Amino acid sequence: MVTFIAVLLGAYLIGAIPTGVLLARFAGLGDIRQSGSGNIGATNVYRVGGRRLGILTLLGDALKGFLPMLAGTTLLHYSDPQLGFLALALFLGHCFPIYLGFKGGKGVATALGIYLVLAPLAVLLALALFAALLWKWHYVSLGSVSAAGVIPFLVLILSRSLPLFLATLAISALVILRHGSNIKRLLDGTESRFKA
Ligand code: G3P
Repeated sequence: MVTFIAVLLGAYLIGAIPTGVLLARFAGLGDIRQSGSGNIGATNVYRVGGRRLGILTLLGDALKGFLPMLAGTTLLHYSDPQLGFLALALFLGHCFPIYLGFKGGKGVATALGIYLVLAPLAVLLALALFAALLWKWHYVSLGSVSAAGVIPFLVLILSRSLPLFLATLAISALVILRHGSNIKRLLDGTESRFKA
């Protein structure tokens, strides 16, 4: 039990690594929280720093969810409830990072990395929805919120695991809540469109 709590603490600290903030600073862009939408995620780093930096942020944020989850399944052979708690610890680290005064990102890329291990087929279906919405409307946030909304139910149908459903439901609910300002802008018609 003590070991597992230590693992969760370590997972939180990994999830809290602010990839976008670090990459933007290394690239000489200063504090990404002061530019664009002020978000530390890949969309804003892409917006401010360009494609390469945006993709690197996406990869970094996804990997910090993906690799620990992969270790949880393949090395540590965790049960579904344990995997659920591990996923939550990683995700909460990204959203509420101790290194940034607990003000973190919206969690899409980190959730993607987590979900890729928990339910790759569900991710594929949710990504198809994301891509279709992005192609049609050019809003990343609309794709993110919609994909986040469907994925817990895909996880439930495909894995039939209540613990994994509850963990993904909590993560997706937080992703959607953290897009509150984006949702408001989408409704106002003032959300910025993604330019490839
Ligand atoms: O889904 C994440 C993204 O769309 C939100 O980023 O920078 O547009 O608020 P941003």
